[in-house]
Order: sequence, then structure tokens, then C-alpha cells
Amino acid sequence: MKFCAIIVVYLSACFIWEAAQGCQSIDQRFKFPNSDVYIRLHRGSKLQYELMKGSKSLQRVTLDNFITSSNLEATSTGNFKLSDGTTTIEFSLIMATNGITHLRVSRNQVLRATQPRDCFALATGYIHWYGGAEQKEHYWPVERQKYTNFSYVPKELGNMGVAERYWLNSEGFFLYVDKTTPLFIDQHAVGYEDQICISALISLPYDQRLETANFSYQLGIAKDAKAAHMYAVKTLLGKPTGYPDERMVQYPVWSTWALYKAEVTDEVVRDFAKQILDNGFKNSQLEIDDDWEDCYGALTFRKNKFPDAKKLTDDLKLLGFRVTLWIHPFINNNCTTIYETAKSSGFLVLDHEGSAHTQWWNSKPNDAAYLDFTKRTVQEWFTKRLKRLQTEDGIDSFKFDAGESSWVPKDPVLQGDAHELPLQITTDYLRTVATLGDMVEVRSAQSTQDLPIFVRIVDKDSEWGWNNGLVTLITSLLQMNLNGYPFVLPDMIGGNGYNERPPTKELFLRWLQANVFMPSLQFSFVPWNFDNETIQISKTFTELHADYTPYIMKLFKRSTESGEPVNAPLWWIAPNDAVAQIIYDGK
Ligand SMILES: *[C@@H]1O[C@H](CO)[C@@H](O)[C@H](O)[C@H]1NC(C)=O
Ligand SMILES: *[C@@H]1O[C@H](CO)[C@@H](O)[C@H](O)[C@H]1NC(C)=O
Ligand SMILES: *[C@@H]1O[C@H](CO)[C@@H](O)[C@H](O)[C@H]1NC(C)=O
Ligand SMILES: *[C@@H]1O[C@H](CO)[C@@H](O)[C@H](O)[C@H]1NC(C)=O
Repeated sequence: MKFCAIIVVYLSACFIWEAAQGCQSIDQRFKFPNSDVYIRLHRGSKLQYELMKGSKSLQRVTLDNFITSSNLEATSTGNFKLSDGTTTIEFSLIMATNGITHLRVSRNQVLRATQPRDCFALATGYIHWYGGAEQKEHYWPVERQKYTNFSYVPKELGNMGVAERYWLNSEGFFLYVDKTTPLFIDQHAVGYEDQICISALISLPYDQRLETANFSYQLGIAKDAKAAHMYAVKTLLGKPTGYPDERMVQYPVWSTWALYKAEVTDEVVRDFAKQILDNGFKNSQLEIDDDWEDCYGALTFRKNKFPDAKKLTDDLKLLGFRVTLWIHPFINNNCTTIYETAKSSGFLVLDHEGSAHTQWWNSKPNDAAYLDFTKRTVQEWFTKRLKRLQTEDGIDSFKFDAGESSWVPKDPVLQGDAHELPLQITTDYLRTVATLGDMVEVRSAQSTQDLPIFVRIVDKDSEWGWNNGLVTLITSLLQMNLNGYPFVLPDMIGGNGYNERPPTKELFLRWLQANVFMPSLQFSFVPWNFDNETIQISKTFTELHADYTPYIMKLFKRSTESGEPVNAPLWWIAPNDAVAQIIYDGK
């Protein structure tokens, strides 16, 4: 192999064409102005760029399908670029100051039927990765996750309710993919072992009619993960503008779901309230979950289950409860009156053939529709009917379910910038429901870090392990905090008891203990269905949590000021500690 000198390309003056040297494997370097970070180009079977600081490698990125003979060239704007004749990749400096280097890497265009892919070395074993998507099998750090050509939108598959396009690692490096990019990811996929790859493809679930799309992402380099994250919060993720209701922090939410499932009635709810009081527990609110509606989407109480909702909420309030209600964004086809009204008003998400048919967990295929929250008229109509539940039926607030963009019909027609679809519908749903006040809880998110509301972790199973069990309550909590959502409402203590498998006494109590130092407690399985010891222990830990209310509220306030997480991973206090970097269970 021929020896090749390293050619250093400086911003303004001299940059030398390696081709002029007649050498095929020369490295090229480009130093960013006012920063000690530079980029080095490598030619092997694939072209790679490497972010460097002095002799230290910060990140190596493989351009999976880009011509290898391409050269770095300076641009007229003082940045530099690579070109293959059709596509140009531009590296531009956004900021270099206070130890932060912030770059954007963008293609001028992505054509239909191409899937450019940039792969970041995970360096598993000594570098650890955080952020990324909420997952059912949720590891932490996140370098263990596996994805193959996985569209990156909030979606039902894999419990991906909160999925900002943001990753950071223990070296102080972050990656943020712009939301105009139709993003797919591969991680440890075949051919992409030990890498996380981002790619752009004009294909469903994105707007498949686009002629071109952007493939644009931002990179940050800071002294450690904490500094990188604080910078990302400030410039990219945003921080909350306020914080949720204090009583939801102090006392438990009691939900009818895990115990009664869809068998809720006036009588069941009254009996549940009585049990809570008889056993000496306090409440922030009693939540009436599925299935209280006339029919799915009606937003009116079914009279044969709840003959007089106002009387019920009045009575519960006299007993010291606040009352909240489970709400979803669907209308089932057989909820005929409201369905026809919504359909004729243009309130349903249609596909390009004009069909509104979709499916959710409470419908058969094609038996439901999804409200189009990208329309202002729908936002107003939905809000108005929720307010009626408050004023006429005495409901205090709501638990908003779903919201992920995957619930719409395949190939939907939506409003908004075509490059930001379907993400826009999730954002618009959340912004609509967040107007209902500081007791609101949601379970999905998309560029909504500013909202002062609780974001619930998607339903957990009554298991111990990685498959959506207790350990993942903690890892999902950490991930949401590092997506910029610090007001996390953990799911029900002991899990949901799906598949007729309720939690054991020990699982229930360990779950409660793990939950004590999270923002809020939510019971649905109840201590008194186990034994007296369970009641006593549950009281101790419920009170311990209540005692920490002032401290939790202080952290809530702090997050609105500085954007710091409320429940940070342990490395937050020791970013360079190799042991802290991999802790996921509060040990
Ligand atoms: C990725 O998935 C999309 C469909 O969602 C498909 O069109 C594309 O060909 C896939 N790419 C690869 C490399 O498999
Ligand atoms: C695509 O990127 C270019 C250059 O960064 C930008 O000017 C343009 O607005 C982007 N397009 C979209 C749809 O965001
Ligand atoms: C609607 O259909 C579901 C089954 O999909 C059924 O359980 C329910 O009773 C029906 N509701 C009405 C109002 O007909
Ligand atoms: C539980 O405690 C209650 C009240 O203190 C008592 O009446 C009951 O016998 C106890 N049950 C058991 C199984 O110990």
C-alpha cells in the first residue's frame, strides 16, 4: 500500500486536492474555525468521516452508500462538503463556544427510491448511549437495543410512545435528527453490527408523495454527557414552561383499570372509593378508566352503567376525591351518531382513497376512525366536548390515551408541512389536550417538551424482567427524562396484570418501592387484596413518597428553569464514572 501523507485542509486558504497527489487512500482533514474539533475522512470499502479532537477520536461515521472517491471541498459559506455529482453532504458549523461544538450534516436532497444511510459506531463496551425511543424491551444504556429498518415515529409497535430523534453518549457526543427527515434506523441489524444507522427514505409512514426529502441531522460535542445534554435541552429539545398539579405528586392516583378492566359502573366506582377510604389511603384522584362511554368516541356516559354521572362525581367529591376520566382519540364506526357527525364535518383522518377506516385495541380491523387533530376545527370540537364533561358531569381532568401517529389509516391525508408528517398529528393531539389544565396526563409525545403535563409510561406488564417488567419502569423513566420529559407518571404499581397474571405480593411491593422516588404513585391493583402486611408496607411507602413532595416539586420547578431532568441517571452526578454510566436500577 502506498504511503500517503495527511493533508490538512484549513478553512480559508489552502486546501489541496488529494487527487493532485495521485494517491488513492489519503486521509483528508478539515478543521472547524474557532474549535479544536476537526473532521477526518477515511477511505476504505466505504467512505467514513471521523470527528476528532487532538488525537482523540470522538465519533466515526460510515457513509453507507456514498461514492468513496469523493473529496472534502470548502464551500463559499466557510463550511465544507462532499459531493457524488448528484447529492451533496454539507458539514456546517452552527456554534463553537464554551467547550461545545455544534454541527449540522445535511444532504441537499434525498431522491425517491434512494435510502442514504449514515452509521455511527456504537463502540459497545466502552462508550455508553442514552436517549432514543421508549421501548417495550427497554434497555439502559441503549446500545443494546436492536432495530432493523425501523421507521422512527411515535408508534404502537414496541410501546414507542415517546421517541425523540435524539441520542447522546458517555463521551459527550449527541446526535439529533431533524424532524423533516423521513427517518428509519438500524441498530445491530444484519450488516450493521455495533452501529446505529440513520437513514432517510420517502416511504410510509412518511408522506410517500414527496418528490424529495431532507436528510439532515445535528451533532454536538461537549466535555461529557451532562454538558452535551444541557446544551441539547437549551438549543434543540426545549424545557417545560410549567409543571403539573402538586396533589398528583403527593397522593396516589387510583385507577379502575387493572382491577376492573372494562367492567366499570357507578356501583363499582363507589365501592372502589369506599375500599380506598376504609383502608385509610389518601388520593389525588380516582380515575374512571375504560369502559364508561355510550360507545367509543361518544364522550357521554352510558346510562345503564352510570345513570347519573353528576351525582356520582358530587358524592365522590364529598368523600374527598377528585375524579378523572379515561379519554382516547378514536370513534368506532358503530358509535353511529357521533361517527356520522364527525365524518360529514371532515373531522376524521382519511386515506388518499377517502377511507377513514383504521383499528385500535377496542375495535376490529376497519371498525374505527381517528380524529384529525391537525385540523383546528377538530381541536376545538374535541375540547368543547371534554369541557362539557367537566361542567355538566363534574369531571376534574382526564387521562389521555394513545396519540401515537401509527393509529391513523395507512397513507393518511394530514394537514401541515408535508415534510413533518405524520409527526404533526401527535404534536397537535398533545397540544390540544394540554389546554385542559395541569392535571392532564398523556402517554405520547413529539416535540412537546414545553408542555407542563404528566407523560405516562406506556402500560407495563406484571413481570420482573426486561420484557416490559419492573426493571423497565426505571429504564423508561430515565429515557423519558433524557428526551426532555421530566414529569413522568409511572404506570400502575404492579403492572397491568394482562393475560390473567396479576402481580404477586412481592412484585407489587417491590414495584411500589421502586416507584417511591418517581414523581407520582398510581395504584390500580390494591394493597388490601393481598394481606395486612401488604397494607402496612404500602402505607409506609406511600407516606414516604408524600413526605418527599416538597423536594419533588422543587425538582419540577428546577426543570422549568434549567431544563435539568427530575429523575436523572446516576452518571448525572459523575458523568465520567464508568460504573455510574451503566447503572439502570438505582443500585
Ligand atoms: C425499509 O423499509 C421500507 C418500507 O417501510 C422499504 O421500502 C425499504 O426498501 C426498506 N429498506 C431496506 C434497506 O430494507
Ligand atoms: C431542507 O434543508 C434545507 C437546507 O438545510 C432547508 O433550507 C429546507 O428548508 C429544508 N426543507 C425542509 C422541508 O425542511
Ligand atoms: C360496537 O361493536 C362492539 C364490537 O366491536 C360491540 O361490543 C358494541 O356493543 C357495539 N356498540 C354499539 C353501540 O353497537
Ligand atoms: C387484618 O387486620 C384487620 C384489622 O386490623 C383484622 O381484623 C384482620 O383479622 C386481619 N387479617 C388477618 C388475615 O390478619
